[in-house]
Amino acid sequence: MANGLDDVIAAETVISEVNGRVGRLILRGLPLNDLVESHSFEQAAERMLDGFLPGIKTSRSDLKPLLGNARSDMFAYFRNRLPGGQAHPVDALRTCVAQLPDGDDLNTALNLIAAPAVLLPMLLRQAKGLAPIAPDPEAPHAVDMLHMLTNTDIDQPNEQALETYLMTVMDHGLNASTFTARVVASTGAGLTSSVLAGLSALKGPLHGGAPGPVLDMLDAIITPENAEPWLQEKLDRGERLMGFGHRIYRVRDPRADALKLAISKLPGKSGRLALAEAVEKTALRLLAKKKPDRPLKTNVEFYTAVLLEALGFPPESFTGVFFAGRVVGWIAHAREQAQTGRLIRPQSLYVGPRPQDAA
Ligand code: ACO
Repeated sequence: MANGLDDVIAAETVISEVNGRVGRLILRGLPLNDLVESHSFEQAAERMLDGFLPGIKTSRSDLKPLLGNARSDMFAYFRNRLPGGQAHPVDALRTCVAQLPDGDDLNTALNLIAAPAVLLPMLLRQAKGLAPIAPDPEAPHAVDMLHMLTNTDIDQPNEQALETYLMTVMDHGLNASTFTARVVASTGAGLTSSVLAGLSALKGPLHGGAPGPVLDMLDAIITPENAEPWLQEKLDRGERLMGFGHRIYRVRDPRADALKLAISKLPGKSGRLALAEAVEKTALRLLAKKKPDRPLKTNVEFYTAVLLEALGFPPESFTGVFFAGRVVGWIAHAREQAQTGRLIRPQSLYVGPRPQDAA
């Protein structure tokens, strides 16, 4: 039995490759940094979905207006359908996405990509008693998402930072949420069902729920001098340091550096970045001492927390922003599974009593 399915290959894919030994991520043939430097969010999404949905063209110019219209449609659809109360944003997002019709077509995919970008700002503003801001279908996706959140003009460094984030987390091999999405797709269910399942898997703190606790950690540490005693106490209590360790990477997660670079370009954020760097350095030293045989390095979630905070997202919304990027990968994988895979149905090893034992 492979507990946690370590090293089990459960799909062939053309979407992404994670090399945990050298710390390299390839997305549709391009190293992560090349994709981020040469593509907008819309172009990257188009590249990821190319070949999986009729109507997606390879000319790299079609998705922007289609996605803009989908944002407007999602705003109109959800305007009077938001859950009330003070639900956690991920729970509210799940409730909303579950209302969308299922399907395997381009329109369903566009609505699913547009939905988190529109819904998260609507939900966050509703929680503060503020009116929602309508999307601008002509604006770039990342700009529009930030504008709907803040109702301010979005400058280029902020646009670039969110775009970098959304592309950096777009896909990452057969991680827990993507595998979940593929399992659902393998039964013949539609994209909405697969995305809803992926979102449910993303929520947990061992996967996409880590950056909120990372920020709590930085807030509790306050200054670099406090890092060592605070982190050591956590480790002594047998707790995990959020933002460190990974199932696949034995070296630093390349996404951490992509995000760190994006933060360094944001004006006025150097103090927070300096604290994060000091905490990271101390954490890596303490983890190496505690687990000399198990390399535990910085993962994507550590600098995600710093970047999303700098962009004005509250910690409880970080998993929802992750959803806004990763949804593209889930859709590509769900379609790939439907096109090339079989029903995913592994075996379990029964270790309970047998009839003769029970008698
Ligand atoms: N802090 C302290 N110890 C750790 C950490 C950590 N962050 N991560 C792993 N360990 C320890 C475990 O306690 C375990 O010790 P043991 O053998 O004495 O029991 C050992 O390292 C191996 O851990 P596993 O749980 O087997 O590693 P696994 O590959 O299953 O876990 C995971 C990977 C879940 C990411 C883990 O490193 C972790 O919990 N990290 C903190 C949460 C986090 O940052 N999650 C985001 C991951 S990135 C993403 O999903 C987008």
